[in-house]
Amino acid sequence: ELSFIHRYEPATDPSRPPLLLLHGTGGDENDLLGLGRMISPGSALLSPRGKILENGMPRFFRRLAEGVFDEEDVRFRANELADFVAEARKAYELEAPIAVGFSNGANIAAGMMMLRPEALSGAALLRAMVPLSQSPAVDLAGKPVLMISGAMDPIIPAENSKRLAASLSASGAEVQHEILPAGHNLSQTDLQLLVKWFGE
Ligand code: MLT
Repeated sequence: ELSFIHRYEPATDPSRPPLLLLHGTGGDENDLLGLGRMISPGSALLSPRGKILENGMPRFFRRLAEGVFDEEDVRFRANELADFVAEARKAYELEAPIAVGFSNGANIAAGMMMLRPEALSGAALLRAMVPLSQSPAVDLAGKPVLMISGAMDPIIPAENSKRLAASLSASGAEVQHEILPAGHNLSQTDLQLLVKWFGE
């Protein structure tokens, strides 16, 4: 028994990297499977359900208000999720996955990169925010990160997503930060950028 409720789809193309799919608030383990298949056809897909319930809505860590995080819980949950990734890698014989996270899922992925960099080989962060007010010193040398933000996102100030991109770059990650004329929801352009990034 692995420690998170999850969906798993084995790779059909072993040359493709495994994806760790991380849903947004109120989503579940089924949400991003279609996106995963579309952006990296043939990849193994590992898709856990966040363990926190906020008024019945699954999430990956607690928050005090929209955009205001319980940072102690961010730390605890990022470690717990990294432990799950290690278990799942053993059980399913996987390389370190690339995280694909949306909103709350992107935020926990960013937290994992900073606290447990060995857990992920890279990340696509869709509508991500700075997960921890003090970024830990971490070596992300060579890890590819695609961040896609929305210029009109009502939840995420532009300054905040830029700060996250800068902090990941400063730690050595190969960051591509795209800012779209979009809000918090994903658009067709997000998909196109993801397909292109995964193709490279
Ligand atoms: C979060 O709580 O992680 C952010 O506010 C994004 C969200 O899930 O709405």
